[in-house]
Amino acid sequence: HQSITDYISNTIRTIPDFPKKGIQFKDITTLLQDKRALELTSYMLAQPFRNRSVDFVVGLESRGFLFGTNLAQDLNAGFVPVRKPGKLPSKTLSEMYALEYGEDHVEIHQDAIFKGAKVIIHDDLIATGGTASAASKLIKRLGGEIVGYSFIIELSFLNGRDQLVQNVPIESIVIE
Ligand code: PRP
Ligand code: MG
Repeated sequence: HQSITDYISNTIRTIPDFPKKGIQFKDITTLLQDKRALELTSYMLAQPFRNRSVDFVVGLESRGFLFGTNLAQDLNAGFVPVRKPGKLPSKTLSEMYALEYGEDHVEIHQDAIFKGAKVIIHDDLIATGGTASAASKLIKRLGGEIVGYSFIIELSFLNGRDQLVQNVPIESIVIE
């Protein structure tokens, strides 16, 4: 898989000082527009979880939506969005988190997952782990069981994985 990983990695563009000075922004729009990278990324995201029983893929707004529904279909699971405040129309639960740049809340519908559901959390990127950690808390509050994490890019120097539920597989295609 090394060459597949390299192919995907080479389609991701780094934008310095976006959205703030000092942030090296990982831009996946250049991955998305490359049809081979688009297909290979879908394939690589699903691969580690193919033989696992999964009820829901939870995708994190907004860039976690891009591959989240496709990943859910590949794993024969449903898709659940975790969204930024005020976007979900029905009753929600909310969790605060600190972002690499700023602070925000994420929300989930109260009836989005059933108790005991096996859940994979997907996002395009894990940096500090704040977003995925807040999503994990939402799923636990609803009685879900997190059985895996799925990212395209992991900024390992920020140690975001330390914020996640322990002893659960964390699968990242590109690790920097
Ligand atoms: C980015 C990225 C992850 C999150 C990672 O999203 O897509 O969701 O930050 O950072 P963390 O691990 O430090 O929490 P962003 O909030 O910029 O929003 P977007 O996906 O809607 O563009
Ligand atoms: Mg995001």
